[in-house]
Amino acid sequence: MLLMVSLIFRFGRCWTAEGKPAPVALDLLDLDPDPLTQFQRWYADWCKVCPSDPEAMFLATSSPEGQPSVRTVLMRGLDERGFGFFTNYEGRKGRQLSQNPLASLLFYWPEPGRQVRVEGSVVPMAEAESDAYYASRPRLSQLGAWASHQSRPLESRHQLLERLHELEQRYPEVVPRPPHWGGFRLRPASWEFWQAGEFRLHDSFRYDRRESGWSILRLNP
Ligand SMILES: Cc1cc2nc3c(=O)[nH]c(=O)nc-3n(C[C@H](O)[C@H](O)[C@H](O)COP(=O)(O)O)c2cc1C
Repeated sequence: MLLMVSLIFRFGRCWTAEGKPAPVALDLLDLDPDPLTQFQRWYADWCKVCPSDPEAMFLATSSPEGQPSVRTVLMRGLDERGFGFFTNYEGRKGRQLSQNPLASLLFYWPEPGRQVRVEGSVVPMAEAESDAYYASRPRLSQLGAWASHQSRPLESRHQLLERLHELEQRYPEVVPRPPHWGGFRLRPASWEFWQAGEFRLHDSFRYDRRESGWSILRLNP
C-alpha cells in the first residue's frame, strides 16, 4: 500500500486539478551531495522563466537586541566561498552586520514552486574585490553610492539630486569607491531546499555543514 501511494505521488499524477503539470516529488537521490551545485541547478531553472532580476534575494539581519529585519539585495557572485552582495556599510543592514554577522538569505521561485533558505555568517569582501565591482558599475550608479546616505532620513528627493549634481562636479572623471560602500559575502552553514508538492505534501531537505562535507536530512514540509 505504502509503495503504491509513493509510486502515485512520484510518477502517477501528471496534472493538477487546475490543469497545470503536477510537481514531481523530490527525492534524496535527486539531490546533489554539494548544496552549491544543487542551488546552481535550481537557479538555472529559475533564470529560464524569471521575468526580471533573477538574482534578487531576501537578506535577513538582526539588531543587537534581536529585532530581525529583511530586505531585497542582488546576488553578485556565488562560489564555494558563499553569496556576494554589495551595499552601504553604514546603512541599517551594514551596521547590523558589523555588530552581528549571523544572517539568512531566502529565495522564492514561484515557477516551479521552490524555496531555498540559507543561514550563515557574513564577512566583508576584500577591498580589491569591492573596487573591481564598483569600477564595473555605470558612472551614475557610482555617484549614487556617494549621494545616498542609505537608511537615513532624507528631506526631499530634490536634496538627493542636488547632492548628485555636486558630486558630478567634484568627480568629473574617475569616481573613487566610497570607503563606506562595498561587498559582503555570506558563507552558508546550512541550506534548506523546499519544493512544492500536491496536497501540501511538499518536499524539504536541509544540508548542514560538517567537518568534511555536508549532511542531508529530509524535513517535514
Ligand atoms: C530588486 C531590488 C534589488 C535591490 N538590491 C540592493 C542591493 O544589491 N544592495 C542594497 O544595498 N540595496 C538593494 N536594494 C534596496 C534594499 O532592499 C533596501 O531598501 C536598502 O538596501 C536599505 O536597506 P537597509 O536599510 O536595511 O540597509 C534592492 C531593492 C530591490 C527591490
